[in-house]
Amino acid sequence: MTDDLRYESVLPNATYAPWLADADFQAAFAQIRDHTLVDHFRCYELWQLVEQALRLPGDMIEVGVWRGGTGCLMARRAQLLGSPAKMVLCDTFAGVVKAGRKDGAYRGGEHADTSLETVRALAGAMGLANIETLTGIFPEDTGDKVADRTFSLCHIDVDVYQSGLDVLEWVWPRMPVGGIVIYDDYGFATCDGITRLVNERYVHDGAVTLHNLNGHAVVIKTAGAKPFWKRLLGR
Ligand SMILES: C[S@@+](CC[C@H](N)C(=O)[O-])C[C@H]1O[C@@H](n2cnc3c(N)ncnc32)[C@H](O)[C@@H]1O
Repeated sequence: MTDDLRYESVLPNATYAPWLADADFQAAFAQIRDHTLVDHFRCYELWQLVEQALRLPGDMIEVGVWRGGTGCLMARRAQLLGSPAKMVLCDTFAGVVKAGRKDGAYRGGEHADTSLETVRALAGAMGLANIETLTGIFPEDTGDKVADRTFSLCHIDVDVYQSGLDVLEWVWPRMPVGGIVIYDDYGFATCDGITRLVNERYVHDGAVTLHNLNGHAVVIKTAGAKPFWKRLLGR
């Protein structure tokens, strides 16, 4: 796939809108909508993917929480399904880090207008007892606190290439076959580093990558997946 990124507004012909008939989703989205940068199309996709991921063993993890909107939405879905899985929410709460040459718009420090207390208040208002929070750069500062866990779902909403890559490499060996990675911002002109990362990685061993048109790339781990170190050594 070329690095020559081109853009066009996507105008879908299909109009099926299941979120309109989903009262639980509507109620949850109303609670989180002022705490998220993510539109209801992508939020509904997260809502549906949580149900599928929770058929697998393990917890769920989000890196890139900001004010807690998508994280609490996914935790609500798990709560409604009666799942014992925890939702681990990871953020610096001091803004974006690791912006670099592959990122056209981000410089670092964006989205610092939040706090751990903001997220905890939202979770409290929603009655969510299934979230855990980790403050710091992930994975370097906080990954060791959950390094012995398995994750059936990972939501990567970090905006820039290097953070996205570091999260993926950390979580991939901790996911079962069938585990789901969702990259937010895939295809957004302001987050070209994420598009570049997915485009570079989409043919990697043991993964099926869905390039959605809504601003998500969804990666599903298959039985052919090899650990990264084996791939690096060519085995
Ligand atoms: C676009 S916001 C997340 C939006 C959120 N998911 C929502 O519902 O609107 C991106 C967040 O990623 C965080 N972030 C970026 N890279 C990170 C990293 N390596 N570790 C922890 N947090 C990171 C930033 O602090 C920022 O809050």
